[in-house]
Amino acid sequence: MNNFEFANPVKVVFGKGTIARLSALIPTGSKVLMVYGGGSIKKNGIYDQVTNALKGFEVTEFPGIEANPHYETCMKVVEIVKEKNIDFLLAVGGGSVIDATKFIAAAYYYEGEPWDILSKGGVIKKALPLGVVLTLSATGSEMNERSVISRVETREKLNFASPMVFPQFAVLDPEVTYSLPARQVANGVVDSFIHVVEQYLTYPVNAKVQDAFSEGLMKVIYEEGIKVLDHPHDYDIRANLMWAATNALNVWIGQGVPQDWSSHRMGYALTAQFGLDHAQTLAILLPGVMTYMFKEKQVKLARMGEVVFGIIEGTEEERARKTITACEDFFRRMGLKTRLSEFGIKESDLDALSAPVDKQGWHLGEHHNIDSKVTHDILMLRL
Ligand code: NZQ
Ligand code: ZN
Repeated sequence: MNNFEFANPVKVVFGKGTIARLSALIPTGSKVLMVYGGGSIKKNGIYDQVTNALKGFEVTEFPGIEANPHYETCMKVVEIVKEKNIDFLLAVGGGSVIDATKFIAAAYYYEGEPWDILSKGGVIKKALPLGVVLTLSATGSEMNERSVISRVETREKLNFASPMVFPQFAVLDPEVTYSLPARQVANGVVDSFIHVVEQYLTYPVNAKVQDAFSEGLMKVIYEEGIKVLDHPHDYDIRANLMWAATNALNVWIGQGVPQDWSSHRMGYALTAQFGLDHAQTLAILLPGVMTYMFKEKQVKLARMGEVVFGIIEGTEEERARKTITACEDFFRRMGLKTRLSEFGIKESDLDALSAPVDKQGWHLGEHHNIDSKVTHDILMLRL
């Protein structure tokens, strides 16, 4: 196991009816900006629950954070925060709303061009405090220090991480996820499953605790994931998926182990340039990374196959190959596509998709050996 330092300060409030706890979680006297998305919270009752819980606070609202949140929109919100002297941000939504809120919190104090936080690793010294009411379990953003923002002008999508943007609290009520469309439920299952894979499926470093947690999370997400579309109002399935997704990326399982994240980074361009949902990019790319890096990942692929999918027949190499197929079958069973051509993406598009790897100087994967040429090769495998 490698050395690590770990702290996660996010207070989690989990369960039915927990949105009512908001008034006790937000510091008394705060001037709150409630940040939300395209309006789903007004149809499913979450808006009413939140505004009832916020009685007694001075609240301003900003609706309209888009999926894959835009830098341009976030910068408009920063102006509102300044104008209204806001001192607490409340994100009510999925990963997009939470990520936007984190960026707004950081951009508010940032000296210089805030895009540099994303494109140049600009250091965040201070951020506004924020809290979260989660409405879609997928990204783990509710309990981590990460954020992913897109810039429409340049068709770029980039991420940043800073301990300054850990939420102060995250309210997780599984019942609020009942209203999600099937596509978003499936996205959440696949995204959270692949978050575990990114931190687990590298090479063994004898990190038994992290491996056991990761294997348990993948098994739960797989087993509950294939049930949830047929049982959307089953509380136990929703609760287990929600808590699994949070644990999949609260950076706990990644401590002291090598991590990959190449599917994620390569996927940003697929969203920025072709508009694919985040999880959809991963369902296409992960089988490519597994195939291209087969030798490097073979030991853990075989182990994952046994624990998660019950693959016990054959040599280690055969079991590892079957695991790749089992993952792709799982993604398709959830309703996601796994090939670029299913979105009309052709070989002639691949240069543009691999170019951001060069532009950002990325060397991806646990061995840092995925450059833009290898990215191109992996994309070729997924046509
Ligand atoms: O905009 P509204 O009306 O809220 O509708 C949203 C949106 O259309 C809808 N929705 C959310 N909760 C709902 C609901 N509809 C009905 N009932 C509910 N309870 O779902 C749609 C998708 O929402 P979005 O927030 O975009 O989805 P998700 O949570 O999957 O977030 C995706 C974003 O997170 C980033 C992705 O790149 C992408 O930009 N990620 C963030 C990470 C992080 N911060 O750690 C890690 C991830 O790997 C990921 O990159
Ligand atoms: Zn993800």
